[in-house]
Amino acid sequence: ITINWSVEKARKDGYDTFLQKEIHEEPAAAQAFCREIRNHRAALDAYLKQHSFTKIVVVACGSASFSAIFAEALARQFELPVDVISEVGSEMRYNPPIISSTTLVLAISQSGETADTIGAVKAAKQKGAQVVAFVNVAGSTLEFVSDLVLPLSAGPEISVPSTKTVTNMFLAVYFFLDAMRQALSGARDESWFTSAEDFRAALAEMVGREREFRSIADRISGYQSCFAIGRGVDFSIAKETALKFKETSYLHCEAMNAGEFKHGSISLIEYGMPVLCILTDQAQRKKMVSNINEVRARGAQCIVISDLQPTEIEDAEAMTVITVPAVGPVWNTILTLVVAHYISFLIGTLRGIDVDRPRNLAKSVTVE
Ligand code: G6P
Repeated sequence: ITINWSVEKARKDGYDTFLQKEIHEEPAAAQAFCREIRNHRAALDAYLKQHSFTKIVVVACGSASFSAIFAEALARQFELPVDVISEVGSEMRYNPPIISSTTLVLAISQSGETADTIGAVKAAKQKGAQVVAFVNVAGSTLEFVSDLVLPLSAGPEISVPSTKTVTNMFLAVYFFLDAMRQALSGARDESWFTSAEDFRAALAEMVGREREFRSIADRISGYQSCFAIGRGVDFSIAKETALKFKETSYLHCEAMNAGEFKHGSISLIEYGMPVLCILTDQAQRKKMVSNINEVRARGAQCIVISDLQPTEIEDAEAMTVITVPAVGPVWNTILTLVVAHYISFLIGTLRGIDVDRPRNLAKSVTVE
């Protein structure tokens, strides 16, 4: 493995934990990704031109697997004329979808060493699939088994819970599907790169809102259990929110498709139970607002994370609304990730957890 950063750079820089430092590095990491990936755009275009894929299987594990779920939902929103499905490595390896020489496997990994992801990729390659990988650590095993490697450029990530790399993974998915959409339609448009700077600035604003996040963390850190809900692209954000709560603050959180809530799980809502509601999916705004009001009417305390202002949300005065700055439709969705990162970090510290090294976890799982 080539380590392309110094020990000096990997220090805490005055922060108490690597986790907090890495959350504060999200704007710079996003900027690094958006700049670096531009240098790879021509190679990706040429690669996509050379192959005509009929199916894309996005495979990953842990937090990275939520960027795969995001890819599946976003491809539908884009109406890409290619089937895009998400898989977790441990399932795909032994219970694979149909794979052929016109299948593209898009593997996403921070470390590039996750055994389940690598195992799934190798098995797909044996069936003739092409492999493109987004990886953060240069020189990793995943790179050697991939046909095209694209960097996540988040820099060193020491804390076990992944934050800045996760945001870059979602950006990577958006970048990739935007490139794919252009390759399929023959159109050429650079607007992705223009909005990237606004995204960085919006993210910088978000990491400066600790006081607002702290008041929410104070309010919900005493609960045993909560939910995170979303529809469409927002479901992937709900999944990341739930995992961050579990691994960083040991607060049990279950992610649900908001429309599915009424089919059973809503029975668990008791007075005051926190429900984190992600509200950015443009096509399903109205539906989501009525889902939020459904749980609120049953006593839940709803914390809405949205690109909408409270004045634009029905009955917002009965909820807590965190408004992310408006950059653009997909950018706004990705921007909500940092809220989960920050709040789970704060709850973890309130609960006295070693947030850089939560129990039973490893930064990279190199065994099955
Ligand atoms: C471990 C880590 C997770 C991470 C997952 C995938 O389980 O604890 O934080 O998301 O591995 O890691 P990767 O390096 O493939 O992104």
